[in-house]
Amino acid sequence: MSLIKSINARRVWDSRGNPTVEVDVILENGVLGRAIAPAGASRGTREAIDLRDGGPKLRGKDIQNALASVNGPIASALRGMDASDQAEVDAAILALDASALKETLGGNATVATSLAVLHAAATDARKPLWRHVADHYNCTPSLPLPEIQIFGGGAHAGRRVDIQDFMVVVPGAFSFDEVMEITSEIYFAAGDIMAQRGKLAGVADEGGWWPMFDSNEEALETLVAAIEKAGETPGKNVAISLDIAASEFGSNGKYRLALEDREMDSGALIDMLGRWMDAYPILSIEDPVGEDDRDGMIEFTRRFGDHVQIIGDDYLVTNANLVKEASSDAACNAVLIKVNQAGTVSESVETFMAAQAAGWGAIVSARSGESEDTSISHLSTGLGGGQLKVGSFQRSERMVKWNECLRIQDELGAHSFVGGAPFKGTWWDRA
Ligand code: PGA
Ligand code: ZN
Repeated sequence: MSLIKSINARRVWDSRGNPTVEVDVILENGVLGRAIAPAGASRGTREAIDLRDGGPKLRGKDIQNALASVNGPIASALRGMDASDQAEVDAAILALDASALKETLGGNATVATSLAVLHAAATDARKPLWRHVADHYNCTPSLPLPEIQIFGGGAHAGRRVDIQDFMVVVPGAFSFDEVMEITSEIYFAAGDIMAQRGKLAGVADEGGWWPMFDSNEEALETLVAAIEKAGETPGKNVAISLDIAASEFGSNGKYRLALEDREMDSGALIDMLGRWMDAYPILSIEDPVGEDDRDGMIEFTRRFGDHVQIIGDDYLVTNANLVKEASSDAACNAVLIKVNQAGTVSESVETFMAAQAAGWGAIVSARSGESEDTSISHLSTGLGGGQLKVGSFQRSERMVKWNECLRIQDELGAHSFVGGAPFKGTWWDRA
């Protein structure tokens, strides 16, 4: 049993150059656990609060109050606790904050602390983090199936296109390593096509190409062309995954695609996505309607839930109760797991387990503001059976997470790759 000796938070900087919280947890035997809080740009309204100081300095984004939460009340409460009891540690953190969304301590303070404790416990047990997670939560580890962004949009690319993420999945691959190779070919094929057509403006927040398309559908056409140029057959080994992030362009059942100057209600949005799914090999679709559009999500799932994966991100904010509610509503059939939406490791794992109990998919995800922290590569492998969403195929805060999975592949064996299992029952499985 290794007791927590001290906890210290410092200000570091994320992939967008914004300040963020890094926490060091030191055990009595000298073992160190360290983690960094990520930050979203298209946040759900019900997720844990990313506590920022406000005011003129650093565009209001400084995190001195979150640092004070860790160095003050959190450090005092956790000192002397057993780092290997993650549930107790997270409960002690929760007991300090009676607010609904962790606005007192800050979700950035709680998530960095909670993850740092998990790292300390793993190191103390002389295990890689993925193995510690698997053993601690009684899971069979497996390397996740990645979904990888090719074009960025929405809040990650100056709203140049309305849809946020145009991604590929490679459920036909035999190993994680093969997914990386195929994705690299597609990513650069897409860049070449865009450059030739005069549609390439640079890279977006998560490393995907920043597109200058004239319509949202042009992105889908270009993605199919890129998959073909890379020598793959769209819909066979490789398919398309979209994060619509519809809350970013609509609420109260009214949506507006600025790029195409089109307004539509929930039914028309669902019809449009249905046409896209008929015309393009789309296997997974995230937040197809707004986070407040329960009827829309139920209708979308009724129409398409038996052949594509439907992920709730802003709709479910990594909350186990919302997963249970949505499951009884028959809305969505998968959940995005973002540890900082929940605010602690225990709540995130509880949400993952709720998804498994519902027979749903679970996709562990990074945020658009990231760092060198690789905790999510380990979490998704340790919990097993799932998928991993990290952003695109360049920028080190993205590649560090894919590369960590390759190191885990060497430890765990290439055969432990989950492959197309998350897409059992979809059109891809039946094709
Ligand atoms: P965010 O977006 O990290 O900017 O909130 C990621 C997503 O919507 O999946
Ligand atoms: Zn999303």
